[in-house]
Amino acid sequence: MAPTITANSSGREIPNSAPVSVETIVVPDPGPGEALVKVEACGVCHTDLHYREGGIGDDFPFLLGHEAAGRVEAVGEGVTCVEPGDFVILNWRAVYGTCRACAKGKPWYCFATHNAAQRMTLLDGTPLTPALGIGPFAEKTLVAAGQCTKVDPAAPATAAGLLGCGVMAGFGAAVNTGAVGRGDSVAVIGCGGVGMAAVVGARLAGATKVIAVDVDPSKLERAARMGATHTVDGSTADVVAAVRELTGGFGADVVVEAVGRPETYEQAFYARDLAGTVVLVGVPTPEMKLELPLLDVFGRGGALKSSWYGDCLPSRDFPALIDLYLGGRFDLDAFVSETIGLGDVEKAFEKMHRGEVLRSVVVL
Ligand SMILES: NC(=O)c1ccc[n+]([C@@H]2O[C@H](COP(=O)([O-])OP(=O)(O)OC[C@H]3O[C@@H](n4cnc5c(N)ncnc54)[C@H](O)[C@@H]3O)[C@@H](O)[C@H]2O)c1
Ligand SMILES: [Zn+2]
Ligand SMILES: [Zn+2]
Repeated sequence: MAPTITANSSGREIPNSAPVSVETIVVPDPGPGEALVKVEACGVCHTDLHYREGGIGDDFPFLLGHEAAGRVEAVGEGVTCVEPGDFVILNWRAVYGTCRACAKGKPWYCFATHNAAQRMTLLDGTPLTPALGIGPFAEKTLVAAGQCTKVDPAAPATAAGLLGCGVMAGFGAAVNTGAVGRGDSVAVIGCGGVGMAAVVGARLAGATKVIAVDVDPSKLERAARMGATHTVDGSTADVVAAVRELTGGFGADVVVEAVGRPETYEQAFYARDLAGTVVLVGVPTPEMKLELPLLDVFGRGGALKSSWYGDCLPSRDFPALIDLYLGGRFDLDAFVSETIGLGDVEKAFEKMHRGEVLRSVVVL
């Protein structure tokens, strides 16, 4: 049993006064193919807030959290990829090599990914829905063994855990999905934890111009410190005109949309050069609609892509990014705005809402 944070409602209407609560839960011993992980740190991602607001389904109560690192405590029958004591980052894309995407050599889409077969529950037996099949705002969580990716234990869990979602998603949106290369110009719209990682990724991949766009001046200051060559305040500037002006009048080769709104997607669409690439990594909500002249979609050419989890391959990308971090070339610590306790998640949501943090990280 372990105390955890769960959404405490059974409907979409969640009272703002008590939307999450710390509860005691029952975590089963790992069965075949499962691993029990002692969580050491877990970042608070905007997607957790989407869950708590009912934006990602109605399967309350949710066991929140999905951006974590910890130690494997026990494994079930047949598990060979990890063993007790391993330091792991939890991933929400376990790659099994058997599905149609894997068969085509595109395992970063693996459609066979799955979570632990057994459910964690409240004390009264109510089954919990772990966010993205992980749920590590908890002392312990039960996952499919393939959701554990072993990395160098020299990295602190507060930094390593961030690769489990937001930082990997943003980094991969630029580097994997957007295929940013040497000499490219890149614009990133929305510089929270995800967008900021796209800024850093674009720089590491060799982009010579990296334009950070946000409506919060403090995010822009931070983006400049973390590698953006230019910044645009979307609350005052015409974003499309500003990005075009900074790119010789043409637009950026790659524009990463890391907000998840139709208006920022439209900005991304028109702020990219002809035949350029738009990468949508921000997650929209179900009611959002996009309207674009079809002639512009055709006439501007290029690629309109979505980035699920930065198109990452955890076994390839997590250890490599940890090695970059340990080598001083990728400052993951700069994403950790504060460390907090398990009871502070609601406050962290408020700070995220006010744009005060890149990442609040729960330390267990
Ligand atoms: N695709 C994926 O696999 C994946 C993974 C993780 C998170 N996400 C999504 O990425 C998005 C960003 O997540 P985050 O954790 O960085 O959130 P966040 O709240 O920390 O950051 C969002 C940023 O967007 C800025 N912003 C808001 N409105 C804007 C506007 N009109 N123009 C420019 N900037 C604006 C905010 O000021 C903030 O800095 C969310 O939608 C989240 O759900 C996607
Ligand atoms: Zn697969
Ligand atoms: Zn996330």
